[in-house]
Amino acid sequence: MRAAPGFLTEREGRFLALVAACAPAGGTILEIGSFKGKSTVGLASVAQRYDLGPVVAVDPHSAPAVTDFGHGSGQSSWNDFQASLRSAGVERTVEAHRAYSRDLARGWTRPIRFLWIDGDHTYRGAKEDIDLFRPHLVPGAIVALHDVLHTFEGPVRVFAEELLDSDDFGPAGLCGSIGWAQYRPHDGSTWRGARRALRRRISRLLPFVLGPEPKGWRKLRYKLWRGLVPHDAVKPEDWLALVRGAW
Ligand SMILES: C[S@@+](CC[C@H](N)C(=O)[O-])C[C@H]1O[C@@H](n2cnc3c(N)ncnc32)[C@H](O)[C@@H]1O
Repeated sequence: MRAAPGFLTEREGRFLALVAACAPAGGTILEIGSFKGKSTVGLASVAQRYDLGPVVAVDPHSAPAVTDFGHGSGQSSWNDFQASLRSAGVERTVEAHRAYSRDLARGWTRPIRFLWIDGDHTYRGAKEDIDLFRPHLVPGAIVALHDVLHTFEGPVRVFAEELLDSDDFGPAGLCGSIGWAQYRPHDGSTWRGARRALRRRISRLLPFVLGPEPKGWRKLRYKLWRGLVPHDAVKPEDWLALVRGAW
């Protein structure tokens, strides 16, 4: 995973691997947005090691979203994506779809135990991804979005409005810039207080992502509020204790 090009930190990569291995639910791991395969390699290495079935990875590999690195350059990440999978020896554990998430969603029927959203970071794009695949989450599944602590509008708003504000979700938190929540439709309200406390801290970031890109003093203020959102590395045993009640 370290060798593959991409934007995940070590902390975030370790967290993704933990979720892939331990999300307490049966079903598929679905990745939206693969780029050159960094997170795909992490998820697939775990899936291969623990015989969890193929990771489904969807990306048109054309940087179509305005939030994409290289947007408008016409360059494809497909060859680098395949090279990353080959070097890591996981190409047979990845079911790659060179498509938009909305196209994959059209014929999708499989239950999902880990939904990893790292595609179009506009509000419309991130909201569409959660709306399209949420009906397929199984109780206990984990939803995670990348770049929640970034000034893109999509991930932070969807994390706040669709996950933290909803009693369908239970425990929630951040690890690095990954915001995650567990789908707990039967007992999610038990965590309402904790989700609201986190929501209050996340709410302070929203004025900065809704307006123009923060600069100068505004940027400093954004960074100050962002620093007050808990986003440390998770201890696997603590995280498991939080989510395993869903078994
Ligand atoms: C931030 S990158 C993904 C990074 C990757 N997860 C990693 O670990 O390096 C975002 C990717 O989302 C893809 N993308 C943009 N819009 C998409 C959509 N509607 N459906 C699927 N993928 C999309 C882009 O092509 C780009 O490769």
